[in-house]
Amino acid sequence: MMLRSNRELWWAAGIGLLITVIYGGVVLYTREIPAAGEWFGHVIGILGFILMLMTEILYSLRKRSRLASWGRMSSWLQFHIFTGLVGPYMVLLHTSWKFNGLAGAVTLLTVIIVLSGIVGRYIYTRIPRTLDGLEIEGTLSEAALRQARQLMALWHTIHIPIGMALFMSAFIHIGGALYYATLLK
Ligand code: HEM
Ligand code: HEM
Repeated sequence: MMLRSNRELWWAAGIGLLITVIYGGVVLYTREIPAAGEWFGHVIGILGFILMLMTEILYSLRKRSRLASWGRMSSWLQFHIFTGLVGPYMVLLHTSWKFNGLAGAVTLLTVIIVLSGIVGRYIYTRIPRTLDGLEIEGTLSEAALRQARQLMALWHTIHIPIGMALFMSAFIHIGGALYYATLLK
Protein backbone atom coordinates (compact mmCIF):
# COMPACT_ATOMS: atom_id res chain seq x y z
CA MET A 1 0.00 0.00 0.00
CA MET A 2 1.35 3.38 -0.93
CA LEU A 3 0.46 5.23 2.24
CA ARG A 4 1.54 2.61 4.73
CA SER A 5 1.50 4.83 7.76
CA ASN A 6 -0.64 7.65 9.09
CA ARG A 7 2.46 9.66 9.77
CA GLU A 8 1.21 12.79 8.00
CA LEU A 9 -1.99 12.75 10.05
CA TRP A 10 -0.03 12.59 13.31
CA TRP A 11 2.22 15.42 12.19
CA ALA A 12 -0.79 17.53 11.24
CA ALA A 13 -2.42 16.81 14.60
CA GLY A 14 0.78 17.70 16.47
CA ILE A 15 1.40 20.94 14.60
CA GLY A 16 -2.32 21.73 14.86
CA LEU A 17 -2.10 21.37 18.63
CA LEU A 18 0.94 23.65 18.74
CA ILE A 19 -0.89 26.29 16.68
CA THR A 20 -3.90 25.96 18.99
CA VAL A 21 -1.69 26.62 22.02
CA ILE A 22 -0.20 29.72 20.35
CA TYR A 23 -3.68 30.94 19.37
CA GLY A 24 -4.90 30.33 22.92
CA GLY A 25 -1.91 32.26 24.27
CA VAL A 26 -2.73 35.23 22.06
CA VAL A 27 -6.39 35.13 23.13
CA LEU A 28 -5.43 35.03 26.82
CA TYR A 29 -2.81 37.73 26.46
CA THR A 30 -4.91 40.19 24.43
CA ARG A 31 -8.24 39.13 26.02
CA GLU A 32 -9.94 39.11 22.64
CA ILE A 33 -10.45 36.93 19.58
CA PRO A 34 -7.71 37.91 17.09
CA ALA A 35 -9.34 40.00 14.32
CA ALA A 36 -8.76 38.78 10.77
CA GLY A 37 -7.21 42.06 9.70
CA GLU A 38 -5.01 42.69 12.78
CA TRP A 39 -1.45 41.41 13.00
CA PHE A 40 -2.02 37.89 14.38
CA GLY A 41 -5.08 37.13 12.28
CA HIS A 42 -3.33 38.50 9.27
CA VAL A 43 -0.12 36.52 9.71
CA ILE A 44 -1.92 33.25 10.37
CA GLY A 45 -4.19 33.85 7.37
CA ILE A 46 -1.26 34.51 5.06
CA LEU A 47 0.80 31.55 6.31
CA GLY A 48 -2.22 29.25 6.11
CA PHE A 49 -3.00 30.43 2.60
CA ILE A 50 0.60 29.83 1.49
CA LEU A 51 0.33 26.26 2.80
CA MET A 52 -2.95 25.86 0.89
CA LEU A 53 -1.34 27.14 -2.30
CA MET A 54 1.48 24.66 -1.84
CA THR A 55 -1.13 21.93 -1.36
CA GLU A 56 -2.83 22.88 -4.62
CA ILE A 57 0.31 23.20 -6.71
CA LEU A 58 3.20 21.01 -5.54
CA TYR A 59 1.68 17.54 -5.68
CA SER A 60 0.14 18.17 -9.12
CA LEU A 61 3.47 19.44 -10.43
CA ARG A 62 5.32 16.42 -9.09
CA LYS A 63 2.66 14.07 -10.44
CA ARG A 64 3.06 15.46 -13.94
CA SER A 65 6.81 16.04 -13.90
CA ARG A 66 9.16 13.96 -15.98
CA LEU A 67 11.79 14.34 -13.26
CA ALA A 68 10.57 11.19 -11.63
CA SER A 69 13.56 11.04 -9.32
CA TRP A 70 12.39 14.06 -7.37
CA GLY A 71 11.22 12.27 -4.21
CA ARG A 72 8.73 9.49 -3.89
CA MET A 73 5.12 10.14 -4.84
CA SER A 74 4.06 8.76 -1.49
CA SER A 75 6.12 11.37 0.33
CA TRP A 76 4.67 14.14 -1.84
CA LEU A 77 1.16 12.94 -1.16
CA GLN A 78 1.87 12.81 2.57
CA PHE A 79 3.20 16.35 2.41
CA HIS A 80 0.09 17.33 0.37
CA ILE A 81 -2.14 15.96 3.10
CA PHE A 82 -0.12 17.58 5.89
CA THR A 83 -0.22 21.07 4.32
CA GLY A 84 -3.82 20.42 3.21
CA LEU A 85 -4.86 20.00 6.83
CA VAL A 86 -2.62 22.52 8.62
CA GLY A 87 -3.12 25.35 6.08
CA PRO A 88 -6.93 25.31 6.26
CA TYR A 89 -6.77 25.07 10.05
CA MET A 90 -4.65 28.23 10.23
CA VAL A 91 -7.00 29.96 7.82
CA LEU A 92 -9.92 28.94 10.05
CA LEU A 93 -8.24 30.68 12.99
CA HIS A 94 -7.75 33.70 10.72
CA THR A 95 -11.50 34.15 10.19
CA SER A 96 -12.16 35.44 13.75
CA TRP A 97 -15.20 33.14 13.56
CA LYS A 98 -17.17 35.51 11.37
CA PHE A 99 -18.26 34.21 8.02
CA ASN A 100 -19.91 37.10 6.17
CA GLY A 101 -20.20 37.41 2.43
CA LEU A 102 -17.55 36.18 0.04
CA ALA A 103 -15.04 35.39 2.81
CA GLY A 104 -17.65 33.11 4.35
CA ALA A 105 -18.07 31.33 1.01
CA VAL A 106 -14.29 30.91 0.73
CA THR A 107 -14.29 29.34 4.18
CA LEU A 108 -17.09 26.99 3.20
CA LEU A 109 -15.21 25.91 0.06
CA THR A 110 -12.11 25.35 2.21
CA VAL A 111 -14.05 23.09 4.58
CA ILE A 112 -15.53 21.22 1.61
CA ILE A 113 -12.16 20.60 -0.03
CA VAL A 114 -10.68 19.26 3.20
CA LEU A 115 -13.63 16.91 3.74
CA SER A 116 -13.38 15.86 0.10
CA GLY A 117 -9.64 15.25 0.56
CA ILE A 118 -10.31 12.97 3.52
CA VAL A 119 -12.76 10.96 1.42
CA GLY A 120 -10.21 10.87 -1.42
CA ARG A 121 -7.48 9.60 0.87
CA TYR A 122 -9.77 6.81 1.94
CA ILE A 123 -10.54 5.73 -1.64
CA TYR A 124 -6.93 6.19 -2.72
CA THR A 125 -5.57 3.88 -0.05
CA ARG A 126 -8.06 1.15 -1.06
CA ILE A 127 -6.08 0.67 -4.30
CA PRO A 128 -2.80 -1.27 -3.84
CA ARG A 129 0.18 0.78 -5.07
CA THR A 130 3.93 1.03 -5.07
CA LEU A 131 5.59 3.82 -3.10
CA ASP A 132 5.55 5.76 -6.35
CA GLY A 133 1.81 5.57 -6.61
CA LEU A 134 1.65 3.06 -9.45
CA GLU A 135 -1.15 0.59 -9.12
CA ILE A 136 -0.06 -2.98 -8.48
CA GLU A 137 -1.60 -6.39 -8.08
CA GLY A 138 -2.88 -6.68 -4.58
CA THR A 139 -5.49 -7.93 -2.27
CA LEU A 140 -8.47 -6.46 -4.12
CA SER A 141 -10.52 -8.65 -6.45
CA GLU A 142 -10.80 -7.52 -10.09
CA ALA A 143 -14.34 -6.12 -9.62
CA ALA A 144 -13.51 -4.32 -6.37
CA LEU A 145 -10.44 -2.78 -7.99
CA ARG A 146 -12.46 -1.55 -10.97
CA GLN A 147 -14.98 0.00 -8.65
CA ALA A 148 -12.32 1.75 -6.59
CA ARG A 149 -10.73 3.13 -9.77
CA GLN A 150 -14.06 4.46 -11.04
CA LEU A 151 -14.75 6.03 -7.67
CA MET A 152 -11.30 7.64 -7.67
CA ALA A 153 -11.88 9.07 -11.18
CA LEU A 154 -15.27 10.43 -10.13
CA TRP A 155 -13.68 11.92 -7.02
CA HIS A 156 -11.05 13.72 -9.14
CA THR A 157 -13.74 15.32 -11.32
CA ILE A 158 -15.31 16.77 -8.17
CA HIS A 159 -12.25 17.63 -6.07
CA ILE A 160 -10.32 19.55 -8.73
CA PRO A 161 -13.05 22.06 -9.73
CA ILE A 162 -13.80 22.74 -6.06
CA GLY A 163 -10.13 23.61 -5.59
CA MET A 164 -10.24 25.98 -8.54
CA ALA A 165 -13.40 27.70 -7.32
CA LEU A 166 -11.78 27.98 -3.91
CA PHE A 167 -8.66 29.72 -5.16
CA MET A 168 -10.54 32.03 -7.53
CA SER A 169 -12.76 33.25 -4.70
CA ALA A 170 -9.84 33.34 -2.24
CA PHE A 171 -7.88 35.68 -4.51
CA ILE A 172 -10.90 37.98 -4.82
CA HIS A 173 -11.31 37.94 -1.02
CA ILE A 174 -7.64 38.71 -0.49
CA GLY A 175 -7.63 41.53 -3.02
CA GLY A 176 -10.81 43.02 -1.61
CA ALA A 177 -9.86 42.56 2.05
CA LEU A 178 -6.44 44.09 1.58
CA TYR A 179 -7.85 46.98 -0.41
CA TYR A 180 -10.72 47.86 1.91
CA ALA A 181 -9.47 46.75 5.31
CA THR A 182 -5.78 47.46 5.12
CA LEU A 183 -4.86 50.00 2.48
CA LEU A 184 -7.83 52.30 3.09
CA LYS A 185 -7.37 52.32 6.86
C1 HEM B 1 -8.53 30.53 1.91
C2 HEM B 1 -8.02 31.50 2.63
C3 HEM B 1 -8.84 32.50 3.43
C4 HEM B 1 -10.09 32.39 3.97
C5 HEM B 1 -11.01 31.16 3.95
C6 HEM B 1 -10.40 33.65 4.61
C7 HEM B 1 -11.56 33.93 5.30
C8 HEM B 1 -11.84 35.10 5.94
C9 HEM B 1 -13.00 35.36 6.76
C10 HEM B 1 -14.14 34.36 7.00
C11 HEM B 1 -12.92 36.62 7.21
C12 HEM B 1 -13.91 37.34 8.13
C13 HEM B 1 -14.98 37.98 7.34
C14 HEM B 1 -16.00 38.62 8.27
O1 HEM B 1 -15.62 39.52 9.01
O2 HEM B 1 -17.14 38.18 8.24
C15 HEM B 1 -11.70 37.20 6.70
C16 HEM B 1 -11.28 38.50 6.91
C17 HEM B 1 -10.11 39.03 6.39
N1 HEM B 1 -9.19 38.38 5.59
FE1 HEM B 1 -9.26 36.46 5.01
N2 HEM B 1 -9.34 34.49 4.44
C18 HEM B 1 -8.36 33.83 3.72
C19 HEM B 1 -7.13 34.33 3.36
C20 HEM B 1 -6.69 35.62 3.57
C21 HEM B 1 -5.40 36.13 3.23
C22 HEM B 1 -4.27 35.31 2.59
C23 HEM B 1 -5.39 37.45 3.55
C24 HEM B 1 -4.32 38.49 3.41
C25 HEM B 1 -3.37 38.49 2.51
C26 HEM B 1 -6.68 37.76 4.12
C27 HEM B 1 -7.06 39.00 4.58
C28 HEM B 1 -8.18 39.26 5.30
C29 HEM B 1 -8.45 40.54 5.92
C30 HEM B 1 -7.58 41.79 5.85
C31 HEM B 1 -9.67 40.39 6.61
C32 HEM B 1 -10.38 41.44 7.44
C33 HEM B 1 -11.43 42.10 6.64
C34 HEM B 1 -12.17 43.13 7.49
O3 HEM B 1 -11.76 43.40 8.62
O4 HEM B 1 -13.17 43.62 6.97
N3 HEM B 1 -7.45 36.62 4.12
N4 HEM B 1 -11.07 36.25 5.93
C1 HEM C 1 -6.23 23.08 0.85
C2 HEM C 1 -6.68 21.83 0.77
C3 HEM C 1 -6.49 20.95 -0.43
C4 HEM C 1 -6.36 21.28 -1.75
C5 HEM C 1 -6.37 22.67 -2.36
C6 HEM C 1 -6.19 20.04 -2.49
C7 HEM C 1 -6.04 19.96 -3.87
C8 HEM C 1 -5.82 18.79 -4.56
C9 HEM C 1 -5.63 18.70 -5.98
C10 HEM C 1 -5.60 19.88 -6.96
C11 HEM C 1 -5.47 17.38 -6.28
C12 HEM C 1 -5.29 16.78 -7.66
C13 HEM C 1 -3.86 16.38 -7.86
C14 HEM C 1 -3.68 15.86 -9.26
O1 HEM C 1 -4.26 14.82 -9.60
O2 HEM C 1 -2.97 16.52 -10.02
C15 HEM C 1 -5.56 16.63 -5.06
C16 HEM C 1 -5.44 15.26 -4.95
C17 HEM C 1 -5.55 14.56 -3.78
N1 HEM C 1 -5.71 15.08 -2.53
FE1 HEM C 1 -5.92 17.03 -2.08
N2 HEM C 1 -6.22 18.99 -1.61
C18 HEM C 1 -6.40 19.49 -0.36
C19 HEM C 1 -6.47 18.79 0.83
C20 HEM C 1 -6.38 17.43 0.93
C21 HEM C 1 -6.52 16.68 2.16
C22 HEM C 1 -6.77 17.29 3.53
C23 HEM C 1 -6.38 15.37 1.84
C24 HEM C 1 -6.45 14.13 2.73
C25 HEM C 1 -6.79 14.10 4.00
C26 HEM C 1 -6.15 15.28 0.41
C27 HEM C 1 -5.98 14.10 -0.30
C28 HEM C 1 -5.79 14.03 -1.64
C29 HEM C 1 -5.67 12.77 -2.36
C30 HEM C 1 -5.72 11.36 -1.76
C31 HEM C 1 -5.51 13.10 -3.71
C32 HEM C 1 -5.42 12.13 -4.88
C33 HEM C 1 -4.02 11.79 -5.21
C34 HEM C 1 -3.92 11.14 -6.58
O3 HEM C 1 -4.92 10.74 -7.15
O4 HEM C 1 -2.79 11.06 -7.08
N3 HEM C 1 -6.17 16.55 -0.10
N4 HEM C 1 -5.76 17.53 -4.02
